[in-house]
Amino acid sequence: MEKVKIPIRPLGPFPTVLAGADVDGKPNYATIGACGVVSLEPVLYISLRSTHYTTTGVKENGYFSINIPSADMVQVTDYCGIVSGKETSKANMFSSFYDELGRAPMISECPINMLCKVIKSMPIFDFEMFFGEIVSAYANQESLTDGRVDPQKINPMIMMGNSYWNLGQAVGELFKEGEAYKKSQEQ
Ligand SMILES: Cc1cc2nc3c(=O)[nH]c(=O)nc-3n(C[C@H](O)[C@H](O)[C@H](O)COP(=O)(O)O)c2cc1C
Repeated sequence: MEKVKIPIRPLGPFPTVLAGADVDGKPNYATIGACGVVSLEPVLYISLRSTHYTTTGVKENGYFSINIPSADMVQVTDYCGIVSGKETSKANMFSSFYDELGRAPMISECPINMLCKVIKSMPIFDFEMFFGEIVSAYANQESLTDGRVDPQKINPMIMMGNSYWNLGQAVGELFKEGEAYKKSQEQ
């Protein structure tokens, strides 16, 4: 396989999520791609530029939310990534809800929401990385099939290159494809 050198920069794929926090008592959301798992524990990280309005809120409250928008929310999602709550309020863009802890706003319109409690944070370059324990998680009823989260109904977006991509089709099953390959090698 011939390889060509390409520019050194994070390329993706990245998940498309909206990070939420209350700032001065009002909801604010920022689009982020820097979000992911760190282990098998229910802990996720987000990485937020230190100067973002949302970052102030996460530091103020010690909590943040992760909201997974559907592909049909692409415009509002991108908007949250180009406009700062410092200049323009994003407080009423969505219908926000809180769980009984009331520590970070979540977006009703997003099919999946997770409330995370900051358990560790660290500065990294000009960003702040927050590790958040998931303390509650919600799904829209219509995003479930037989009581389980249905990826196709959620239709999340992935960032790669200059585009948002939707989910497409399942191409294999977790922990099963490798077993099939293993068997094929044994013959
Ligand atoms: C596609 C996309 C991905 C982004 N990913 C991140 C990210 O991972 N971390 C981050 O701090 N900002 C990221 N941003 C930038 C923030 O969303 C943006 O600066 C936003 O206006 C910050 O809002 P705030 O100041 O109200 O918090 C991204 C923006 C876009 C459009």
